[in-house]
Amino acid sequence: MVIKKVCCIGAGYVGGPTCSVIAWKCPDIQVTVVDKSELRIKQWNSEKLPIYEPGLDKVVKECKGRNLFFSTDIDSAIKEADLIFISVNTPTKTYGIGKGRAADLKYVEACARKIAEVAENNKIVVEKSTVPVRAAESITHILSANRKLNVSFQVLSNPEFLAEGTAVDNLLNPDRVLIGGEESPEGDAAVAELSWIYGHWVEAEKIITTNTWSSELSKLASNAFLAQRVSSINAISALCEATGADVSEVASAVGQDSRIGSKFLQASVGFGGSCFQKDLLNLVYIAECVNLPEVANYWQQVTDMNVYQRTRFSKRIVECLFNTVTDKTLAVFGFAFKKNTGDTRESPAIYVCSHLLEEGARLNIFDPKVEPKQIEQDLTSADVTSDPERVLNLVNIYSDPYEAVKDAHAIAVLTEWDEFKTYNYEKMLSIMKKPAFIFDGRKILDHQALIKMGFHTETIGKRFSRNALQRASGEHFPAFSWTP
Ligand code: NAD
Ligand code: UGA
Repeated sequence: MVIKKVCCIGAGYVGGPTCSVIAWKCPDIQVTVVDKSELRIKQWNSEKLPIYEPGLDKVVKECKGRNLFFSTDIDSAIKEADLIFISVNTPTKTYGIGKGRAADLKYVEACARKIAEVAENNKIVVEKSTVPVRAAESITHILSANRKLNVSFQVLSNPEFLAEGTAVDNLLNPDRVLIGGEESPEGDAAVAELSWIYGHWVEAEKIITTNTWSSELSKLASNAFLAQRVSSINAISALCEATGADVSEVASAVGQDSRIGSKFLQASVGFGGSCFQKDLLNLVYIAECVNLPEVANYWQQVTDMNVYQRTRFSKRIVECLFNTVTDKTLAVFGFAFKKNTGDTRESPAIYVCSHLLEEGARLNIFDPKVEPKQIEQDLTSADVTSDPERVLNLVNIYSDPYEAVKDAHAIAVLTEWDEFKTYNYEKMLSIMKKPAFIFDGRKILDHQALIKMGFHTETIGKRFSRNALQRASGEHFPAFSWTP
């Protein structure tokens, strides 16, 4: 088989960028991305794409209508394709067995059933969604139990490692491409076909092939290791605050050991995003299911530490503001779970804001990319509040950061957007209530400069000397500050 047509089911954060890059790099292949959401497909076909990713507009513009198509006609795209990616969402289950931990595979299963129903010739089916170990086996089972006569399928695992905000760059220059397949001549042939696609732009030595289960588990393990690094440095940040050490200095010293490496050691208000927590919980669930409670508890701690970190940060804000934020106004800078994305899924900002709202604070929220409707939806969802009306009364969303800080008692930086570093904080200070506080949950601002200006400055993993803060805050040094 020579792949001429590829279909991708799921036009989300993974399916959209991944298939756009495939279309860009493989002009000899026709790529059709399908989704059951008419709105999503309409957005992909419009000038304003449904997701913000640096560099993506250019890639899509160049290929759309040439060899890249977005459609809701799922059946036709499956019928025509030689190879089908399944890139649908695999959220944490919210019901039944494994509720709150296991991955919900209902969307993946629906795709497998649809492929079996519609396919009229042999297909390679590629599991790109992140799934539990042995999911490929279930997909194979569903496909072969429902296939038409003379139709056969090969199921591959090809997990995606892109990170949001850098998706295009990650796809163009991956550390590795992982392909898991069945250990048989047919399996090997399917692996070779998919490797051929990536081979259009990825060096052969970066394309790793394994058995299907190793590939599936490697994806969960990679995310667990990354999340573990963030939780490890965040645990150290709490120690730094209690002892006078500076977490940036510790991270730099630790990271210079070439065995440890310097990446992913940025202490923060906590990790967010749609996958770290979901995949960790999934790993915990799998470990429990195979009766390995010690392994389950080990990985559970990584997510527990993350909850501790964001709760600790919210509590510190309340403590510093004289133990009450009721009716005080706080400007919130950043709502996305990281910079360069408009994605808010599991953003630490949701949890910090909801804690402050529970305490009665008024929030003026500004984010350069997140749509106001999304912020309102996140803060009024049933998981976050039982009183959405009250929340909407306390929240105002701004498109100008200077407007957001007017008469505010404090600023809380919750996303590391580069533009936050360049604001005129003198100007902001002059229009804020005094003493003015700034809580840098991402460690991106020039703290010494802010202290000098007169801001009471707090950040993660470092405490500033009482003298410096006292000088800045004059008479109003907070009696209940965490600073000893
Ligand atoms: P997403 O929610 O952005 O997109 C999934 C899309 O699938 C949605 O548009 C939905 O409408 C569509 N869909 C669901 N069921 C469908 C069906 N039966 N038929 C047609 N369309 C259907 O999700 P995402 O962020 O792209 O993640 C997809 C998968 O990739 C997940 O398993 C995730 O864990 C994994 N992943 C995500 C990232 C990331 O950065 N977001 C990175 C690596 C891996
Ligand atoms: C992560 C992985 O990095 C990708 O390899 C993986 O494909 C993806 O999950 C997935 O499976 O969905 P992503 O969640 O998009 O990507 O973003 P990251 O850059 O990993 O950041 C995750 C969170 O950790 C963010 O909230 C970020 O601010 C936080 N973080 C990251 C820190 O707090 N400190 C760090 O040093 C690094």
